[in-house]
Amino acid sequence: SNTSETVDQRLTNVCELLQSSIGYYDWVGFYFANEAKKTLHLKAFAGEETDHTVIPFGKGICGQVAVSNENFVVPDVKAQDNYIACSMYVKAEIVVPLFKDGKNIGQIDIDSHTANPFSVEDERFLEWVNEEVATIL
Ligand code: SME
Repeated sequence: SNTSETVDQRLTNVCELLQSSIGYYDWVGFYFANEAKKTLHLKAFAGEETDHTVIPFGKGICGQVAVSNENFVVPDVKAQDNYIACSMYVKAEIVVPLFKDGKNIGQIDIDSHTANPFSVEDERFLEWVNEEVATIL
């Protein structure tokens, strides 16, 4: 890196900015893939502590995105059977894969306490955030 700030600190800054700026972004985190182990690992977040810092590929919304390479918008988490609950307050979730050199290396995950808050605008915005983040990795 060309600054003294570490990648982890910069990712945490992005999480905190998004969580504090957008009212329905209650928890914001970045998970990154360990391809050998087929697991996702939480690298930075803003919001409540979570027990789910390691998620196997295929498990939960996050694990499904690790495999599908596609955005996953969940308007109502109660309607999902392959879902990992982090907080009883969470009503909706969005996960957008993060690509570096065309490869799905991780994702941004956002939980909301608001029902059905995410639109295609959030998808386009978070795709852009991930493109910017990829340039600092
Ligand atoms: N709900 C996610 C797990 C991560 S927590 O939201 C932070 C899932 O189902 O993959």
